[in-house]
Amino acid sequence: MNIREIELKDLNAEKFINEKVKNIASAVESGLAVNALSGGVDSSVVTMLAHRALGNRLKSYFVDSGLMRHEEPRQIVSWFKDLGVPVAIVNAQDEFFTALKGRTDPEEKREAITHAFYKVVFGKLVKESKARFLLQGTNYTDVEETVAGIKRQHNILEQLGIDPEERYGYRVLEPVIELRKPAVRVIGRALGLPAAIYSRPPFPGPALSARVIGEVTRERIATVRQATRIVEEELSTSGAFQYLAILHEDRVTGIRNGRRDFGLQIEVRCWESEDAVIATPTRLPFEKLECLAARITSEVPDVVSVTYNITAKPTSTIEAV
Ligand code: XMP
Repeated sequence: MNIREIELKDLNAEKFINEKVKNIASAVESGLAVNALSGGVDSSVVTMLAHRALGNRLKSYFVDSGLMRHEEPRQIVSWFKDLGVPVAIVNAQDEFFTALKGRTDPEEKREAITHAFYKVVFGKLVKESKARFLLQGTNYTDVEETVAGIKRQHNILEQLGIDPEERYGYRVLEPVIELRKPAVRVIGRALGLPAAIYSRPPFPGPALSARVIGEVTRERIATVRQATRIVEEELSTSGAFQYLAILHEDRVTGIRNGRRDFGLQIEVRCWESEDAVIATPTRLPFEKLECLAARITSEVPDVVSVTYNITAKPTSTIEAV
């Protein structure tokens, strides 16, 4: 791997920020750059660095893939509006659901998302704006896991031998690629991002599609979105690194109103971790688990069973797909 990590202990936030702002400005020169903001810590930090470097020559987009959490597009645009950064929402739901149709293999799903994101959506946006650069929040762990062959993170291109200029028609700038999540948070704080953003739990680029085992459809995303909302409401004060709901592919036999109900199952995961490389399940109080099961089975249509993952990473991974 040809990228060197900047470890948290060696990080000088001010120096890092100045250097990255300078690098972005000199790469883009007097042109424009397009920015992919997902609202996660990494892409939010990249947005602020690029905003400092380019001002209104930065065009930030939030891609509404249809795979995001409840109210997420609106919330993120409003956060950045308060920070003085205009963000446009691009409705690309049809493009993503079409790309995912009929796909069940995890890596194929990631590949379909990569194609829809870089080629279909950003290919068009970059071309229309006449920009030559796309900025994105790839971090060191994303690269490491992809290079190790554990999981192809959707945002890894060059390390997989993909030349974005040749394939998609633009160059990619990744200002936080040398940092792991805790270091990115430090930069976010130093850049003046609110704690609600720089301390957000991680969320995968492929969004809720990384939490649907099997085919990703609008209906199945709606199910996992509702379960996610409940899990986040219940666990946001747990202090855990990450917490999530997963929709399983198989149905199981349940009982509702005294009758057989062959329904859906949701798996809840809640993780203790520093940087997502290794992780252990949080020892949640049993009452909390019971509450999650009760709420999910009563509030999410069709769900009859809720399980809690008690396996560490490794052998598990944080997401299921
Ligand atoms: P895993 O599931 O590999 O996740 O243990 C490690 C960390 O990365 C996030 N994750 C992703 N992030 N694209 C991303 O940008 C992806 O394809 C992806 N898959 C997992 C995950 O949420 C965790 O924080």
